[in-house]
Amino acid sequence: MAGFEVIGTGHYVPGPAVTNDALARVMDTSDDWIYQRSGIRQRHFCPEGKAASDMALEAAKRAIEAARISPKEIDYIIFATMTPDYIFPGSGAVLAAKLGLEGTPALDIRQQCAAMIFGLQLIDGLIKGGAAKTILFVGAEAHAGFMPWSDWDVVMGESDRTLTDAEKQKINEHRALAVLFGDGAGALVFRATDRDAGLVAAKVHTDGRYAETLYVPGGGFRTRPYWKGDMYDKQEYIPRMDGRELFKFAVTKLPKTARALCEDTKTPIESIDLFLAHQANARINSYIREQLGVPVEKMPMNIERFGNTSAGTLPILIDELTHAGTLRREQLTMFLALGAGIHWGCALVRW
Ligand code: ACO
Repeated sequence: MAGFEVIGTGHYVPGPAVTNDALARVMDTSDDWIYQRSGIRQRHFCPEGKAASDMALEAAKRAIEAARISPKEIDYIIFATMTPDYIFPGSGAVLAAKLGLEGTPALDIRQQCAAMIFGLQLIDGLIKGGAAKTILFVGAEAHAGFMPWSDWDVVMGESDRTLTDAEKQKINEHRALAVLFGDGAGALVFRATDRDAGLVAAKVHTDGRYAETLYVPGGGFRTRPYWKGDMYDKQEYIPRMDGRELFKFAVTKLPKTARALCEDTKTPIESIDLFLAHQANARINSYIREQLGVPVEKMPMNIERFGNTSAGTLPILIDELTHAGTLRREQLTMFLALGAGIHWGCALVRW
């Protein structure tokens, strides 16, 4: 039965990098605090008027070019984002149109930071079931729209205006969340292959009892209409995050799932060449690495330069590692990720 291989990768991040010092212009924080707690030094933000599909388009063009195929050869699109262009329809349809594709099926998935793991299982199923041969997987996020400030000119260094203490105080309420996220897109072209490559096995999980550990309280069809004026005044467009709880989930559930996957597939941890972990916090990944006894060079990180780009993270990391020659054919990789929902899982992939 056909497996899959990745024949092209690409990523895109918008605009100039926004440093921790730039964020400290609008809230009480510091480069030291952010770096020590998360490993992040800078991130990028999607500009006003641009959407996840625009960043996805740039990343997809690069991946398609690297794959040396025509966009018309793509017979399925999977688009992963938690910050879509519209409440509906999903960004997959919008991206397909921007790529000039008419009639190519596009599926939107909503597993946030864990999207890649669920995506791998879907890609495997679509290819093995014969529904697709060439699949474009894109993860893209425009988190800028939920940042707790409106002073973009100050953040971007276009104004030296100083915020009042009261203005900063409003932003401070959300500063633990605001410093973690960044925008960008990563795209991967998967193709069916007879080579011994593709998904070895995956373990994915969802526990919706913890949906409110990271969620957007405002908007949604629990109310009529689904958006009310006072939601803006109560800053309900800003996600609420229980950072400590998510941290605990990640450092307990991911090593447990990784071990279970190794046990089920009789894969010794030492035989895995690379551990491709979601980049939510460098400390989370260090804990996981220590618990699994994985040497530091086997778990590459790029959170320092991008922050947490949610569904964009793993595709961006894969693109960088492919270009660096770190990720190569025949290597055995383990993917690990946990995201809002909560959704989490691990996947073993032969490259
Ligand atoms: N700058 C300075 N101080 C801050 C900041 C900031 N940016 N943010 C919070 N603080 C302060 C708090 O106010 C608090 O002060 P206090 O002790 O006077 O009350 C203190 O720092 C400690 O705050 P905590 O929130 O307890 O800090 P913690 O050590 O837990 O780190 C963090 C916070 C970095 C958010 C951490 O909990 C984390 O990374 N959690 C995981 C989050 C995560 O993975 N989210 C993504 C999920 S995946 C997805 O699907 C998108």
